Amino acid sequence: MRIRSEIIGCGSYLPERVVTNAELSAKIDTTDEWIVSRTGIRQRHLAADGEFTSDLAFKAAERALEDADVPAAEVDLLILATTTPDNTFPATATKVQSRLGMVNGAAFDVQAVCSGFIYGLAIADNFIKTGQSKTIVLIGADTFSRIIDWEDRSTCVLFGDGAGAVVLRAGEGDPNANVGEKGHNRGRGILSTHLHSEGSTNDLLYVDGGPSSTQTVGHVRMVGREVYRHAVINLAAIVGEALDANGLAPEDIDWLVPHQANKRILDSTAKKLGLPEEKMVVTVDRHANTSAASIPLALDEAVRDGRIKRGHLVLMEAMGGGLTWGAGLVRW
Ligand code: UT7
Repeated sequence: MRIRSEIIGCGSYLPERVVTNAELSAKIDTTDEWIVSRTGIRQRHLAADGEFTSDLAFKAAERALEDADVPAAEVDLLILATTTPDNTFPATATKVQSRLGMVNGAAFDVQAVCSGFIYGLAIADNFIKTGQSKTIVLIGADTFSRIIDWEDRSTCVLFGDGAGAVVLRAGEGDPNANVGEKGHNRGRGILSTHLHSEGSTNDLLYVDGGPSSTQTVGHVRMVGREVYRHAVINLAAIVGEALDANGLAPEDIDWLVPHQANKRILDSTAKKLGLPEEKMVVTVDRHANTSAASIPLALDEAVRDGRIKRGHLVLMEAMGGGLTWGAGLVRW
C-alpha cells in the first residue's frame, strides 16, 4: 500500500466589494478597453478596511472543512500560502489555526507569491506521503490591494483579494488497483507535484520593501513584459514535465486550473497543450490576479458548479515572483 494525498473538500471566500475597470479608470489613467484587451480582467474584489488576510483565509478554510465534513480538531497541519501576512510575524497561519479551533499539530506560512498554492500542495503531499500528517488544511490567501502602488497603472489594475482552501487527507490507494486502459492509475489523489525557482530573475517581480531591508512594507514592482515572456515558456514546460512524469498526454486532462494572472497567458498554455478552451477554468475576468488564492478559488468554483467531478484528472500550474513556478496533477 502506498499512501496517497486525497483532496476531500474545498472552499473559498471573496470580499464583498467589487471594483470594476470603469471605477478604476475614473481614478487613474487607464481604460476598460486597455485592461480587458491586455489581461481579460473586468473586475476584482477588494478587502474592506479592517478585513485582513487572516479573515479571508479563515472563511475559506471554514468552508473547506465544512465541505469535507472534517472537524478542526482532526486537522494536524495547517499551511497558509500568502505573500501578504497580517503581520511580519507570527505566521498568519497560527491566527487561522486559533480561529478554527484547531488544537493539534502545527501551522505555518509558505511564501512563494503566485506559486504559493502549488508550493503548499507539494509540501502537504509530502507531509502526508511520509506519514507525518494525516489531515491537512491548505489555504491560499492574499490581500494584494494592501501592497499595490495605486498610482502605478501598470500593476494596480492587475490584482484582487481573495482566499481559497482545500482539505487533504491520507488515503491508502493501491497504485495498481485501478489501472485504466492506457495503463494509467485511475486512483484518487495527488499523482505528482513539480516545483522550480530561478532566483536570478527575482528583480522582475518583487516588493520594494521589507523588515530587513527598508523596515517598510513596500509596493509591488514588475517588469510586466519580461514576466509575461518567462510565464509562457515556464508554464508550457512545467505542464509537460507533470504529464511526462505520469506517462499522460494532454488529451488525458479533464481540467486545466491555471493561476489566473492574465487571460492571454492562460490561452497560450492551453494552446501549447492543444487543450480546448472549454477544458480550462477561467476566473481572471471576475477575480483578477489574487496571487496564492487564484487556483483554489478557481478549483472551488468549478467543483461547486459541477464541472470538476470525482475521477477527473485536474492539472494545476502557476508562476510568480522569485521567479517560482510549479504544477500539481490530481485525480479528483
Ligand atoms: O502573477 C504573477 C505573474 N504575473 C504575470 O504573469 C503578469 C505578466 N505580465 C503581463 O500580464 C503583461 O505584461 C501586462 C498585462 C502587465 C502588461 O501588458 P503588456 O502588453 O506587456 O503592456 P506593456 O507593459 O508593454 O505596456 C504597453 C503600454 C505602455 O505604453 P507605451 O510605453 O507603449 O506608450 C504602458 O505605459 O501600455 C501602457 N500601460 C497602460 N495603459 C493603460 C500600462 N499599464 C496601463 C494601464 N492602462 N493600466
